[in-house]
Amino acid sequence: MKRKILFSKETIDQRVRELADEISQEYEGREILMIGVLKGAFVFLADLIRSLSIPCEIDFTRLASYGAGTVSTENIVVTKKIEMPIKGRDVVIVEDIVDTGLTLTYLINQLKKERPRSLKVCAFIDKKRKRKIPIEADFVGFTIEDGFVVGYGLDVNEKARFLPDVYIIEE
Ligand code: XMP
Ligand code: MG
Repeated sequence: MKRKILFSKETIDQRVRELADEISQEYEGREILMIGVLKGAFVFLADLIRSLSIPCEIDFTRLASYGAGTVSTENIVVTKKIEMPIKGRDVVIVEDIVDTGLTLTYLINQLKKERPRSLKVCAFIDKKRKRKIPIEADFVGFTIEDGFVVGYGLDVNEKARFLPDVYIIEE
């Protein structure tokens, strides 16, 4: 597997701190509940929360999609539910990557049913080209057009999550 560095640890650290500042300003005086989407977002979430200047609580969820190649959200299943009540809370979903937008759309629809006070999305990477549903994250770390990326929590078949930098896979 050939790979090329895309975002260095230093670049990521700086951008994550900027994002944490944006979020802290947006929710000044409040406490947020961050919901990390497993597994990919766990490193991002861990860094992000430690740069916040507002208090936050943490929960996790996990989704899986099956039957690739479809344009519907019907093939997405929640394999781990959130465990905390979110009714009336200011909730921020923390995602690794928004690609087609199917996973995020499904998750947002599910969480909205529980009536949070507000619901926003923070994505580490926004991949623009393959979007099938016109959905945008409220806070975005990096934007790329396309390509498969690994490291900083992101994997290829469970490998490479532990790498501190983000790499793009070269065919
Ligand atoms: P959709 O298409 O529903 O999918 O927006 C988003 C999910 O797909 C995974 N994904 C990736 N994971 N490198 C990864 O390690 C990638 O380049 C990549 N592109 C999409 C990711 O889990 C995300 O939550
Ligand atoms: Mg993955």
